[in-house]
Amino acid sequence: MSHAPKILVFDSGLGGLTVFAEVARVRPDAHLIYAADDAGFPYGDLGEKVLVARVLSVLQRLIARVAPDAVVIACNTASTLVLPHLRAQFPQLPFVGTVPAIKPAASQSRSQLISVLATPGTVARDYTRDLVRAYAAHCMVTLVGSSALAGLAEAFVQGESVSDAAILREIAPAFVANGEGRTDCIVLACTHYPLLIEQLERLAPWPVQWIDPAPAIARRTDHVLCEDLGFLPPKTKSRHVAPHHALFTGASAPAPKLSEALRLRGIGKIELEPMPLVFA
Ligand code: DGL
Repeated sequence: MSHAPKILVFDSGLGGLTVFAEVARVRPDAHLIYAADDAGFPYGDLGEKVLVARVLSVLQRLIARVAPDAVVIACNTASTLVLPHLRAQFPQLPFVGTVPAIKPAASQSRSQLISVLATPGTVARDYTRDLVRAYAAHCMVTLVGSSALAGLAEAFVQGESVSDAAILREIAPAFVANGEGRTDCIVLACTHYPLLIEQLERLAPWPVQWIDPAPAIARRTDHVLCEDLGFLPPKTKSRHVAPHHALFTGASAPAPKLSEALRLRGIGKIELEPMPLVFA
C-alpha cells in the first residue's frame, strides 16, 4: 500500500480518545478520524436491539463518508455486541474491537480477586460472562456496572468540575475484601474510564492495578495494517501526513473547551454528521 493508512476510531462519545491516543502513538504515519456518536450517548443504557441498529446505521454513514482502511471500535459496550454484525455487513473492511481485558487481569492478579468496571450494558453481555468463564474461572470476579462514570469522564474532558465523591461512589463496589485477600486488579472495561485515571489512582481505597486495554488495541491495529492490509510499518521518525479530524453525530458543534481538548490531542478539524437517535 502506498498511501498513508486511514483509520476510523469510533466510540459513543469521548472515551475512544484513550484508544485514539495509543493508535496515534503506534502509527504516527496514519490519518486518524475520530468519530463520536454523541447523539447516541450513553450506549451503556441502550437495549441490545436498539444498540445494534444504531451502531450499524451510524457506521454505514461514517464508512461511506470516510472510506477508511480499517475501523477501530473503541467502545466495549458496542464491541461486545455489534462486532459480528459489522463484520457481516462490511466483509471487506477490518474491524478491531475493544472487549473487557479479563484475560490479562486474571493472569496478573495475585489475590485472584479481580473486578470489571464497565457500563451496565457491558456487564450484562453474554460475551463478557463468557470471557469470565473462559479466562477467570480460578478468580472471584466482581462485575460492576456503572451508569454514571462514563458521563463523569465526559464532563471532565469538557472542562467541567467533577466531584471526587461522585467518582468514588461509582468505583467503591469494585473494591472487595474477603477474609483472605482483596481486589488487586480492576479492568477498565469502558474506554471512558482511563480519562479519569489520575482520580481513580488517587481515590482508590487501596492500590490496585488498573487495566487499560488501549495499548493492546493499538498493537492489534498495527498488526492488522501490516499483516492483513500490507501497509509498511511506520518509519521511526514519521510524522502524521494529514491532520487528524473528528466527526460528531450531534446537531451542534462542540463547545470551545472541548474543541481545545481535542486540539491538544492532535485533532484540529471538527465536522458534524448529524444523526439524531430515534427510537422505533
Ligand atoms: N466508551 C464506551 C465503552 O467503552 C461506553 C460509554 C457509553 O456510551 O455508555 O463501553
